Amino acid sequence: MTRSTRPTYVLGTGLSHDGSACLIKDGRICVAIEKERITRRKHDGGNDSDAVSYCLQAEGITIDDVAAVVQNDNFSMLVGADDWYRGPRVVKGTNVPLVSISHHLAHAYSAIGASPFDEAAVLIIDGCGNAYDDCIDLEGCTLPETPPEKLGHLFFEKDSYYRYEQGRLRPVYKDFSEGGYVLKQYPLRPSSTMHSIGGMYLAASTYVFAGFEDPGKLMGLAPYGRPGQHDFPIFDLKDGRVFVRYDWMERFTRPARNKTAFKERFQEHADFAWWVQREVERAILYVVNHRYEVAPSDNLVYAGGVALNAVANRLIRTQTRFKNLFIQPAAGDNGLAVGCAYYGWLEVLKQERVKATGPSASGRHYRRDEVEAAVKQHGELLKEEPVEDVSRRTAELLADGKVVGWFQGSSELGPRALGHRSILADPRLPQMRDFINSKVKFREDFRPFAPSVLREDCSTYFDCDYDSPYMILVAPVRPEWRSRLPSVVHQDNSARIQTVTEEVSPAYYRLLKDFKAVTGISVLLNTSFNRKGMPIVETPADAIRFFLGCALDALVLEDRIFFKTAMEAAVDLPLDKLLLERLKPALERNAEEARTLGGVYELRLSGVRTFTLDLSRPQPTVYEGSGTPDVVLALSESDFQRLYNDPSEAMALFGEGKISASGDLQRALLLNRIFRMS
Ligand SMILES: [Fe+2]
Repeated sequence: MTRSTRPTYVLGTGLSHDGSACLIKDGRICVAIEKERITRRKHDGGNDSDAVSYCLQAEGITIDDVAAVVQNDNFSMLVGADDWYRGPRVVKGTNVPLVSISHHLAHAYSAIGASPFDEAAVLIIDGCGNAYDDCIDLEGCTLPETPPEKLGHLFFEKDSYYRYEQGRLRPVYKDFSEGGYVLKQYPLRPSSTMHSIGGMYLAASTYVFAGFEDPGKLMGLAPYGRPGQHDFPIFDLKDGRVFVRYDWMERFTRPARNKTAFKERFQEHADFAWWVQREVERAILYVVNHRYEVAPSDNLVYAGGVALNAVANRLIRTQTRFKNLFIQPAAGDNGLAVGCAYYGWLEVLKQERVKATGPSASGRHYRRDEVEAAVKQHGELLKEEPVEDVSRRTAELLADGKVVGWFQGSSELGPRALGHRSILADPRLPQMRDFINSKVKFREDFRPFAPSVLREDCSTYFDCDYDSPYMILVAPVRPEWRSRLPSVVHQDNSARIQTVTEEVSPAYYRLLKDFKAVTGISVLLNTSFNRKGMPIVETPADAIRFFLGCALDALVLEDRIFFKTAMEAAVDLPLDKLLLERLKPALERNAEEARTLGGVYELRLSGVRTFTLDLSRPQPTVYEGSGTPDVVLALSESDFQRLYNDPSEAMALFGEGKISASGDLQRALLLNRIFRMS
């Protein structure tokens, strides 16, 4: 093959919820990003221009430098789908070929592209893929049931099984389910499909947690449940297929409407979570074992949202006939862009597969001057400690009980922080879990934390002698270590582990080595660098802002360590200081941008104090008292601080009924951008 010296690029783009874009360069991923990391809106999807532009700019190319664009759009048959892409798209209006592929096929290529195997079975299980009519992978495939004529647009992918051999992917078995929107009488109903495992899991999670935030929370809650509280089957398993039963569903009529309701009925919800988790494991194992019989292989490659169930993954690892298991870390819809890009390379351009090796982080790199600019913006609040060896110093801080924000290189793709955008702590300290949950991540107290461990030491602490680089496999903690690593051991004595190698994460590997040198153990508590309802931090500025708004002790930005100058964290600032001494000067500094946003905003805080943000004046300002507001927002002082520290919390606060608003509500959405100026 002759090749020009110019690299060949393929762009993949996912247009589902959890949108993403991915650029492949000569067969390898060079940059990939989830849309939510850029827009700071959790699960953001739809229009892909933000994510696509991020990728192109990171590589310094334009869309015309790309050989092909491949997209997945699983909303094409929905009413109003055109609105989903509101706004112009970078990939439209060019001469670059644009190819659409169906949902499970995109998941499948995402897993194959990243996997180490030359030959494998590929399994996709999620909540809802494309409609039957939109699937391009039906030919030669076993379909246990085909939709009635002219109703193919009402049946959706729920699981798909493929064989990958000799460089090509071949569909083997695909199952579909009718949509679930006819089941409105059940508060606990899968809203997407009637009979998918992922749909049922999401329905249960939404029932318990009052919203679509992170279905994985149910997995964390399950160990607090008691066995034997429920004994009905959630699923019927027959002929290799999974069906949700509806004869038990009318028993569940009390979904948690808010956090208080969840807390009040904690044990009831935990018992239910325990049962759902067991039943989901039963269904997954049934599907995996059946598909193995249909087309066996030693190697299983696995993706789709259900593949994020780390507890079930351990069972696939230990209780099925597949010998080796690879799970795509961005297993949910945030990985669709990766699959689209690999499809473009392998199937549109017909190029040879280049096996993935090395780091799995794929965000763009932030230059030193960009870090410095972000630091300067908050200069008065940050104190830098000059250090020779940042890794060693961080290890010492951790051993001293400090909680550290760890920002290194490119961001990870997918829901897990793997040592690039992480919050780290000493796992030996029992108070760490409550402290980080309540003071750093502002989330429920039952949420567990996971350990990172040097790969070579893994079996010292855990019953695990295999790689688990993506924190999506649990393993039992060895009895002698259970009481010594209290903050990362689940209620059931398991842990969701990340094995760390020098090849994949050199800086993080070195930190674990240094921590071992200081403490004698090579395990760290590792949780994602975000808080409840917030996307993981992406930029240095995001990291600094987060650091200043919570109880983190130190922030490591690449090779520099920062502390707070005093108790300056915004979370603790009195209102006067926050609004008049921080926001007001920030608006003055950014007067032009503030004037462009415009408007007069009245904040009534705890029914006691009123402040006005007036951006309609030539010199935008903040003052105490009322003006002539375009919009009035009433909320408590503490909720205002929450909103100020993380403007992306606005929708959550509205959803929880904690903000009441009147006037021009469109304007209220601009507060997000106003607060970001400070
Ligand atoms: Fe999916």
